[in-house]
Amino acid sequence: MGESDNKEEKINRSDFMKATIAGIGGLIGIAYGLPAVAYVIGPAAKQGSSDWIQLGSVNKIEMNTPTLFKAVVETQTGWIKSEEEISAYVLTENGQDYIVMSNVCTHLGCRVRWVAEQGEFFCPCHNGVFSRDGSVVSGPPPRPLDRFESKVEAGILYVKRGG
Ligand code: FES
Repeated sequence: MGESDNKEEKINRSDFMKATIAGIGGLIGIAYGLPAVAYVIGPAAKQGSSDWIQLGSVNKIEMNTPTLFKAVVETQTGWIKSEEEISAYVLTENGQDYIVMSNVCTHLGCRVRWVAEQGEFFCPCHNGVFSRDGSVVSGPPPRPLDRFESKVEAGILYVKRGG
């Protein structure tokens, strides 16, 4: 065993140490980097993941009678999380197809309510009247009640976020 063997061994050890340090550094980088990446893309991913809002069981809906559903919708805008309650009337005439209507009057945005005795929606602000499918019957509302896109899965009714 000569001096050159020793040198070689030293070089190998030194390379091994460098590689180990680089490896540890890389692992630390990944350990810190992944949560940072998740933190940055998290809200964007979350926002896109829940396009459908769960309203509730279709069993609750009376045939031919608009039934009021309420749901709390969580919205993430950047880092700001906010909660909003949405209300919608759901009408079915055959137990299979559902019309989901906003309860916001199309005149100036007051809340309409279903008046069972009259069989109509009534808006107390300026006496707007809508039929049970949301068409304008009388008063100043310029158009029918807005509708939500909806779907039923396993007996649960969902509406699409934003329409
Ligand atoms: S806000 Fe409903 S009739 Fe004016």
